[in-house]
Amino acid sequence: MKLNKGLFISFEGPEASGKSSQILLLSKYLKKSKIPYIISREPGGTDFAEKLRKLILDNKSTINNLEELLLLMAARSNHINEVIIPNLKKGKIVITDRYADSSFVYQGYVNKFGIKRAQKLHKELLNNFFPDYTFIFKINPKEIIKRLKKRKVKNKYDKSNLLFHQKIIQGYKKIANPKRYITVDASLSKDIIHKNIIKKLKL
Ligand code: TYD
Repeated sequence: MKLNKGLFISFEGPEASGKSSQILLLSKYLKKSKIPYIISREPGGTDFAEKLRKLILDNKSTINNLEELLLLMAARSNHINEVIIPNLKKGKIVITDRYADSSFVYQGYVNKFGIKRAQKLHKELLNNFFPDYTFIFKINPKEIIKRLKKRKVKNKYDKSNLLFHQKIIQGYKKIANPKRYITVDASLSKDIIHKNIIKKLKL
């Protein structure tokens, strides 16, 4: 099947919840089906935003919560303008590993900037530009710790403790009610999750 109108999809969830491997499986499926797509990520997705990513996720950075959110939004604005919108206009499926919901949860809820305040900034500064679908991965916090122990390179949030991961999970529960959200049970097998995702997207 060939889509001629773009579709914007984000993947969200706590650290090590299996988003990345699902994005990989989805991209293989789209390639096989000859459906045009691009895979991107946040913070990042453009040369400029990837440079900001390094600063934002640097373990030694001393920026405060507001500064972090503003950098994330600058990176997001660049990502939207240079990658997301142009590719949607070409009729592609745009898949991003994290997007604005991560800011609402990590900076807004967990780092206490305020979910509503972060959402207001997104509305005012980024035109409330949201994905058509957002998959939110649900995982047990103890499982996160277990999976993170296996990671060799850790960003500043990967190093956080059980309580931090519990709060992230709580944050996603708080924002996940409007129509575009689809919850994914990350404890299911990779193959079943993949099939469920394809079914939801009606691809
Ligand atoms: P990444 O290595 O991609 O983590 P994961 O594999 O768990 O997705 O790093 C992205 C990190 O950036 C992740 O810890 C969450 C954080 N982040 C925010 O805090 N706010 C945001 O708006 C975004 C996009 C990411």
